[in-house]
Amino acid sequence: MHYETIIAEKKGRVGLITLNRPKALNAINRQLTQEVLDAATAFETDPDIGCIVITGSEKAFAAGADIKEMQDRSFIDMYGADWFADWERLPRLRKPTIAAVAGFALGGGCELAMMCDFILAADTARFGQPEIKLGVMPGMGGSQRLTRLIGRAKAMEMCLTGRMMDAAEAERAGLVSRVVPAAELLADAMTTAETIASMSLPAAMMVKEAVNRADEVDLAEGLRFERRLFHSTFALEDQKEGMAAFVEKRPAVFKNR
Ligand code: HXC
Repeated sequence: MHYETIIAEKKGRVGLITLNRPKALNAINRQLTQEVLDAATAFETDPDIGCIVITGSEKAFAAGADIKEMQDRSFIDMYGADWFADWERLPRLRKPTIAAVAGFALGGGCELAMMCDFILAADTARFGQPEIKLGVMPGMGGSQRLTRLIGRAKAMEMCLTGRMMDAAEAERAGLVSRVVPAAELLADAMTTAETIASMSLPAAMMVKEAVNRADEVDLAEGLRFERRLFHSTFALEDQKEGMAAFVEKRPAVFKNR
């Protein structure tokens, strides 16, 4: 796969997407959007891939949507094109996705990270929704996902002031799953992704579906949904293998079916 604004690589069972517009701090323009979605879709349909990692550079995961590309557009340009709607494809991926964030994750960058299933942060990571400073507001999910992830008070303050949050605060707030030294970020993200990719893929996909369901339905409905998915794992060969491996005191080898 050859792209201009990203690098997409298969590393074992992990699909790695590296945002690669260094001169613009990985600002998200239309080309980068299409390339990320294209690469992610290719990994999604590749039976050899079990987990997808999205990362940026040491300095920036992504410093937001591309301001220069947007600045002269009119309301009808944005509304007519339903600007940013294409990004809805990313959280709809069924395979697990990890954002590995170092440096700036601002505006659309923070929103892209939040579209992934979880965020691993380097200690250099800085998160923010600074759109208000540009006279606009979040448009790729910031006001919605940030509020669900860190709660109303902090999300409201972040979106109204545009201030940045460092990695330690992001971990305390529940925005990121873990903070690791910057030098170890990619290796840690790849090891984490390989661990996930070594599990039963259908089981991992069901976990993702169930956890995501928690955002959408009440507890009783969510618990019922989870239980039915749990029951269905007993139709998998991987359930037989996983439980047999435990009983026989050996590592499980999943066949993903
Ligand atoms: C286009 C960007 C950009 C962006 C940085 N660059 N962010 N270009 N869109 N979002 C470009 C700069 O113009 C500059 O190019 C180069 O990247 C390096 O950036 P500097 O500002 O020189 O770097 P630095 O001084 O280290 O500051 C880093 C920064 C700052 C704090 C991250 O770049 C910044 O504040 N960026 C904008 C952050 C932001 O507002 N993001 C939200 C965007 S709106 P040149 O050519 O000058 O060297 C959004 C959602 C949109 O994401 C919602 C609806 C509109």
